[in-house]
Amino acid sequence: MGPPPPLLLLLLLLLLTACATTATAAGDGCSTGCDLALGSYYVGPDQNVTYIGQLFGLGDNYRLLAPYNPGNSNFDFVKIGDRINVSFACQCLARPSDPAATYLAGSLSYAVNTGDTYITIADQYSNLTTADWLAATNTYPANNIPDVGTVNVTVNCSCGDDKVSDAYGLFLTYPLRDSDTLASVAATHGFSSQEQLDTIKKYNPGMDGVTGSGIVFIPTKDPGGNYRPLKSSGQPLSF
Ligand SMILES: *[C@@H]1O[C@H](CO)[C@@H](O)[C@H](O)[C@H]1NC(C)=O
Ligand SMILES: *[C@@H]1O[C@H](CO)[C@@H](O)[C@H](O)[C@H]1NC(C)=O
Ligand SMILES: *[C@@H]1O[C@H](CO)[C@@H](O)[C@H](O)[C@H]1NC(C)=O
Ligand SMILES: *[C@@H]1O[C@H](CO)[C@@H](O)[C@H](O)[C@H]1NC(C)=O
Ligand SMILES: *[C@@H]1O[C@H](CO)[C@@H](O)[C@H](O)[C@H]1NC(C)=O
Repeated sequence: MGPPPPLLLLLLLLLLTACATTATAAGDGCSTGCDLALGSYYVGPDQNVTYIGQLFGLGDNYRLLAPYNPGNSNFDFVKIGDRINVSFACQCLARPSDPAATYLAGSLSYAVNTGDTYITIADQYSNLTTADWLAATNTYPANNIPDVGTVNVTVNCSCGDDKVSDAYGLFLTYPLRDSDTLASVAATHGFSSQEQLDTIKKYNPGMDGVTGSGIVFIPTKDPGGNYRPLKSSGQPLSF
């Protein structure tokens, strides 16, 4: 048998590169979502709980977030560098450009201010979403967002995975910053043994070894203090 023709080699190479760079998220190809996911919101300058509550669709009722923030005893006042847990429904959504390409995310309705771009909108969400992801999940072209109207702010989430564990059905979407890694965030959320870390890695393909950027999904307790098993993660939401 002679050497394979160069074209075949090239195709093989292209295929391998594609596999290596597109680590698929656990929610890709979903058919249903779940009623609840949490997000970890890093508080920046000039922000307060009222503003954060509004970003997540609570109007002036930010106190609805208090049960998810038991560690913050004075929830009316937050300061730069605090992390606030926000809550939203984790829906199975489809890309406008490809209805067959489904993914899991919260969809928050953001009222556009004059001059907003996907970059300025993403900035307010503290890296829970990105400008690129907003462009991919909204029908408006990036250079033509209407001054009046709403943009869907899409925040990725997880509902768990029966191929990984039935023990976890509620997840925290956590944007890495600075020296954060999947392992460090897992450890600060109670998953520090090697066995636990191996489980967490399965929920986060492609994120092992990444420092300071991107999103990781960490199993989290409900306000009652218990992990929610996969099977009872509430009413499925379909799209
Ligand atoms: C909360 O922050 C928003 C946006 O920065 C600001 O407009 C508002 O005045 C602040 N509210 C309070 C009570 O500080
Ligand atoms: C946010 O949720 C995580 C995971 O349940 C928890 O470890 C953390 O203490 C919560 N934050 C606050 C401020 O209570
Ligand atoms: C968001 O990510 C950028 C790039 O990684 C970083 O410079 C910025 O500090 C992050 N913002 C927050 C609020 O974490
Ligand atoms: C959200 O998930 C989609 C699909 O897996 C991915 O393409 C996108 O980059 C993710 N967005 C963010 C901000 O991580
Ligand atoms: C926002 O999402 C809704 C519901 O999926 C959709 O009908 C609407 O077209 C979206 N808006 C934009 C600007 O893409």
